[in-house]
Order: sequence, then C-alpha cells, then structure tokens
Amino acid sequence: MTPQYRAVKGTRDLFPPETERWAAAESVCREVFRAHGFGPIRTPILEHTELFTRSVGETTDIVYKEMYTFPDRRGRSLTLRPENTAGVARAVIEKGIATGPMPLRLYYVGPQFRYERPQAGRYREFGQIGAELFGVAGPAGEAELLEMLFAFLKALGFVNLSVSINSVGTAATRSAFSEALRRHLAAHAAAFSEEDRRRLSENPLRLFESKDPSVRALLSDAPTPRDFLDEESGRHHEEVLRLLGEAGIPCEENPSLVRGLDYYTRTVFEVLSKELGAQDAILGGGRYDNLVESLGGPALPAVGFAIGEDRLLQVAPFRPPAAGWVLVLPQGPEELSEALRVAAEVRLAAPGSSVEVDLLARGFRKGLSRAGLIYDEAVARGYDRERMFVVLLGADEKAAGTVTWKNLATGEQETFPRWELSRRVGAGRQA
Ligand code: HAM
Repeated sequence: MTPQYRAVKGTRDLFPPETERWAAAESVCREVFRAHGFGPIRTPILEHTELFTRSVGETTDIVYKEMYTFPDRRGRSLTLRPENTAGVARAVIEKGIATGPMPLRLYYVGPQFRYERPQAGRYREFGQIGAELFGVAGPAGEAELLEMLFAFLKALGFVNLSVSINSVGTAATRSAFSEALRRHLAAHAAAFSEEDRRRLSENPLRLFESKDPSVRALLSDAPTPRDFLDEESGRHHEEVLRLLGEAGIPCEENPSLVRGLDYYTRTVFEVLSKELGAQDAILGGGRYDNLVESLGGPALPAVGFAIGEDRLLQVAPFRPPAAGWVLVLPQGPEELSEALRVAAEVRLAAPGSSVEVDLLARGFRKGLSRAGLIYDEAVARGYDRERMFVVLLGADEKAAGTVTWKNLATGEQETFPRWELSRRVGAGRQA
C-alpha cells in the first residue's frame, strides 16, 4: 500500500530498538553531565528570528539559507531554532541569572532545524546534545568542558577521537583576518560562484563553508586567524592546550578552523569522525565571550559545545546493555486475566526486563512461534538470549495453581507452583 502521507523531507521517524539506543545514550549523557555539575535546561523550539540573526550572524549559511522562518498570525517573524546556544543565552538573560552566582553550568538535549540538503548524517530536523558554561573567562573553562565531553565520548565506546582546535582571537583579530582574506582572494573572485562572491564581499570568513574545491585550495595557503592573534588570546590558547594535554585529551591544532557561526571568540573546536567523511563533524563548539552582552545582557564570558546526536549515534560503538524478555502466554481468552497478574509479578521480580502478555490470546502454538522469532532477532532488539523466557498458562495450570516456565535458550521447561514464581524469576536473574 502506498502511504498517503510521508514524513517531511529531511525529517525521519525513529522506532525501537533505535529509539532505545538513543534513550540509553541520553541517560549516559545525563549521568556524565550531572557528575560535572551541569543541569538540564529546556528552551522553546520557537524563537524570534532576530535572536539568530543577531547571534549566529546575518551572513552565515545557517541564517542566510538554512532557517525555517515564518510569520505568525500577527505577522511577527518566528524561527524554528537552528541551534540552541542563542536560546540558552537569551533564557539566562531573561531569567536574570546572568548576573547571579557563577559559574553557571547548563546542558540540553533536543531537536534543531536547518534547511540543508539531506544526506547521510545530515537532516532538516536533527538532535543536538549541548552544554554551555557561563562565567569562566580563563582556560579552565575549556578544560572542564572538554574533559566532560571526552568522558561522555569514552562512555559511548570511542577510543581514537581527537579535537581539532584553533583560536579565532577577538573581534579585532576577526576584522584584520577578514580583510587579509579579502585581499588574498580578490584577484580570483571572477571565477567564484555567485554565492562565494557574496561571501567574499559580505563576510570572507564564510568562504570556509564553500564546497568549491578551487576556493578550498585557495584557502589552504591563505592567511589564518592565528596570524592576527593578540598576545592575550595567544597566551589563552597556549594555556588551553597545556591543560588539555594534562587532562590527556588528544588535540590537533588546525589554524584554519573558523566555524560557521559568528559569535565565537578565541577557542573554537570540532571533532570529526572518519566514518562521516571529511566535511562532517560529530560536534563543534567554542568560546563566545561577547554573545550575552550583545544580546543585551551583562558582560559574561561563556564556552560550550553541541554534539549532532544523529551523527553521534551513527558512528558510536555504544550498545545499551541487553535486557531480559519474558512472554506470558495465556492458552486462550479464559487465562488472560491470570496472565496479566502473572506478568505484573514477573515485572516486580525481574526489574529492567521487558515483560509482555500475548493479549490476543492466540494459543500456545502461535505464541511460541512468535517467541521464537523474537529470540532469533534478540541481538538486534537488544535482548539478552540467556534471559529470554515464556510463561505458559493453560487451563491445566490454572486449575492446578501452577505455571510452566520455558527457557528459550535451552528449550527446557518446568512446571512449578504459582507461588514460587517470584523466587524462581529472581533466582534466574542471578544465575
Ligand atoms: P554547529 O557546528 O552548527 O554548532 O552544530 C553542532 C553539530 O550539530 C555539528 O557538528 C553536527 O554534528 C550537528 N549538525 C549540524 N547540522 C546538522 C544537520 N543538518 N544534521 C545533522 N546534524 C547536524 C552549533 O550548533 C553551536 N551551537 C555549538 C556550540 C554550543 N557552540 C558553543 N556552544
């Protein structure tokens, strides 16, 4: 049957067991982040458009061509958030905590929206896991944040990732670098695409987002922000590298890394994964010491990162711990209410297991054949084959006050008094 309605292009539906894997990775994240003193923040998906033009930057790809922007019923321009840093900064100012006790440690897990060309690992609705640390101007801010990030990545089973890192300095660095880049590239502009010519005239830094190989080649021997770094930013950068070295976080300096958002100052970083191809980062982040003030708040230094959750789960070796599975099988509709009570007992005795009742009461033969299919797919479904059972409840068992317990791995089955159920299930779990 051809479906009449399809998900919007670039969006997708996720089902179990993939959703179980997402949820398990998010619990690992919540545990690691909480252990570092970070608390969850939830900001609205809808924001006023101007928040992003002001913070992410009018000439960036995100604002220029990737935002879902529309007028509401009263003509105000709203945007589905393309990223969460601006929203968090706005919320912190609005709540009045930007002038409160520091540091302020917040994280988020949630959907973001960008009108990008959909391809592997790139969607129009995608998840981000991000963290923002406010109130720390010194390099210890970067050190703590990246230490937490790597604790999380390690918990997901990554072993060989390294941070690609750079310093983009201050606003003065940015404008000097921008001018130098314009001079370096001006002679070649005639061969550029219309889009790259626009970038060159409006904001040459954005040429780093160009996909044109000849532009990329020109950029490879262009000046870098490092050529214009002020002394203090240089010292800050050296200290960040030293602290990361001490924390055992592998770093590679990448002098031409500038990132696609305008709010960064000093440190910027990304983590790439070979599985995603050269252009695609699992995560990106950096310092944004002027953002809060530019949005009308106090001068408040900050540093943060956001991980692309879809990309992360695509490449992470992480598998959630396998769970037990029990099917309670009534022989027919007469045994159904007993089956529901048995299932409740098994759930109490085997916490964490998935306990199902054959609600359609189709009989033992069909029920056991379904159990066999699920047993065959155990690995994909995230079940532990050693802990997969069927409880058979027939008219005989009901009359005798017993249950029959079948171990799917061994095929063995045993009938015992119903009152022994909890003890037997509990003992099975320890075996
Ligand atoms: P970003 O580099 O624009 O930074 O996005 C962070 C990550 O989100 C990317 O590295 C990528 O993994 C993922 N991502 C971006 N676009 C897509 C897409 N269309 N589909 C799938 N994944 C995507 C930011 O968003 C900043 N707010 C990060 C930050 C936080 N800086 C400081 N604090």
